[in-house]
Amino acid sequence: MTQTTAGVNHVAIIMDGNGRWAQNRGRPRLVGHHAGARRVKEIVRACPDLGVKYLTIFAFSTENWKRTQTEVAGLMRLFKRYIRREAQSLFAENARVRFIGDRVRLEPALVDLMDGLELLTAENTGTNLTIALNYGGRDEVARAARRLAHDVEMGKLAPRKITDQTFPRYLDTHVLPDPDLVIRTSGEARISNFLLWQSAYAEYQFIDTLWPDFTAEIFAQVLDRYSLRDRRFGAVPA
Ligand code: FPP
Repeated sequence: MTQTTAGVNHVAIIMDGNGRWAQNRGRPRLVGHHAGARRVKEIVRACPDLGVKYLTIFAFSTENWKRTQTEVAGLMRLFKRYIRREAQSLFAENARVRFIGDRVRLEPALVDLMDGLELLTAENTGTNLTIALNYGGRDEVARAARRLAHDVEMGKLAPRKITDQTFPRYLDTHVLPDPDLVIRTSGEARISNFLLWQSAYAEYQFIDTLWPDFTAEIFAQVLDRYSLRDRRFGAVPA
């Protein structure tokens, strides 16, 4: 695998193309999501070697509820299974797992597993893996505004103290640095409501590969391209 010295600290990924990957093989969409979950494991494991300290992945958006009931239920089962099966290895790999998104609409059994995994890995110091589940950037900003308005109402925050430095403290990502690089697989060039506030200065890379085909090798190549771009931006003009 290509090793990279990229100064990339936080990578965020929109894992797109599971459905098409399955359809290309004449299989149900859920088969693609399962293949996608296997790729998640590989990419998380590659992070320490690639110098990626923070990895944030878009697993389920606030818009994804519009999919068929079969697909939504299958995805929820897959998330539960992933957490149950992967908790011990994520712990052993020293990963610290967090979830962002609105938990209110998620089933209690899933929320319990999410809370449990966050707690289990809370003291870990390796890769910071953040999984966006029932996440939407606009929804996150609206929820943050609601919490902020509550603090103002309670007299805990003066309106003149609301700035672009203080506002992000109310976002789900308040403990995370902003992403340096956002990758979207499957050839679509959209950000689809992902980390809207946080990605203001991020680099974007849109990759044709479908998510279930996105190997650690391809990930390393994408990071290499990022580091070249980054170096060029940092150059002092002659
Ligand atoms: C987008 O592909 C993908 C999703 C909506 C789900 C992402 C979920 C996974 C990768 C599964 C595993 C995740 C974890 C955290 C275990 P799509 O279905 O929109 O693909 P399409 O555009 O080809 O239809």
